[in-house]
Amino acid sequence: MKRIAIGVAGLGFAGALHARAVEQAARLDRGPGAPALQLAAAADPDPARRAAAARAFPAARLHADWQALVQDRDLDAVVIALPNDLHADAGAACLAAGKAVLIEKPLAPDAAGVRRLAHAAVRARRTASAGYVFRHSPALAWAIAQAQTGAFGELHHIALTHAEDYGAAGAPLGWRGDAARAGYGALGDLGAHAISIGIALCGPVASAAAIQSPHPETGLTDDRTSALLAFTSGAQGSLHASRTALGRKMRLAVEISADRASLVFDHERPNEIDVCMAGQPGFVKRLCGPDMPGYDRIICAAGHGLGFADLFTLQMEAWTRDIAAGAPGDLGFALQVEASLQAVRASARTGAWTLVQAMHEAAA
Ligand SMILES: NC(=O)c1ccc[n+]([C@@H]2O[C@H](COP(=O)([O-])OP(=O)(O)OC[C@H]3O[C@@H](n4cnc5c(N)ncnc54)[C@H](O)[C@@H]3O)[C@@H](O)[C@H]2O)c1
Repeated sequence: MKRIAIGVAGLGFAGALHARAVEQAARLDRGPGAPALQLAAAADPDPARRAAAARAFPAARLHADWQALVQDRDLDAVVIALPNDLHADAGAACLAAGKAVLIEKPLAPDAAGVRRLAHAAVRARRTASAGYVFRHSPALAWAIAQAQTGAFGELHHIALTHAEDYGAAGAPLGWRGDAARAGYGALGDLGAHAISIGIALCGPVASAAAIQSPHPETGLTDDRTSALLAFTSGAQGSLHASRTALGRKMRLAVEISADRASLVFDHERPNEIDVCMAGQPGFVKRLCGPDMPGYDRIICAAGHGLGFADLFTLQMEAWTRDIAAGAPGDLGFALQVEASLQAVRASARTGAWTLVQAMHEAAA
């Protein structure tokens, strides 16, 4: 494979980040024989967004609808950065056309859409991944890798928070305020990221008990979700997702306690993690550096700091590496997250503890 031609469906907040990430990842030294990466096409019905893309990415073919990317035979892979209700249609169509996909989270508003995507990925045998981008945060990737080696001992408690204020004080939510389009409110938009980190650290969620606060005007999507999580490992956890937390811009916060360590991370300070190993008197701040996964792909010197957009570059590098290797991608992991989201939402509706219904077999 000499070149991976990539299309981006949707040029909003996330799509613009992905489009730039293609160009950034293309300029990393990805080793001898790595295929060139090219942003070959993009699609968005908004003429202003297409005009901006024409200026930023003059070599890309620009279309008004994602369906044009499916028809584009030159494309090897498509990033789906569309409103949630379009993910399953677009993702399944791209897979059926033989293209690899990177699908933004949540994968779909409902379980049926998620299953459709999982089946399409199994049939197509193309790389299918999801946009759980915070697993590429060097501090979190380091914590996940350390946890997997057993360095922290058994993880027994995890507090997961993702709080922002983009929905505070009646701010317009666009498609995010429409239950049929979004499926979830703060839970799918923000809580999905927090749960992805919880699962990466503690393994699958077994059951959840949740409460949600609906949007005051539409009453449809949740502005806030709180949940207790029981992990299959025996670890217990809490989840708080809010889009009305005044002053919070990107508080993806994780606090872990384990047999031999405690850790505290907050993405509002993404380049540090506080660690207390057993025997130490208290927490020690570790600045991110080349000893943490992914960091030195962007900067070689410790403590200089990566940003949110860099995580999209690292995600793009990982996804295209999987495409070049013919690897399946991380959709199986994403299915665990989606199954947990559905259990949390179902629990908030019924008021009962709810078992997570495994969706893994859909992709097996
Ligand atoms: N991973 C992350 O950190 C992250 C961050 C933001 C958003 N997201 C996810 O990305 C997705 C998009 O969110 P967003 O914030 O970018 O929304 P957005 O509204 O900013 O962008 C969506 C874009 O899709 C376009 N679009 C609508 N219909 C289309 C069609 N038929 N064909 C092509 N384009 C079409 C819209 O015009 C818009 O420009 C959501 O699933 C969201 O959850 C992920």
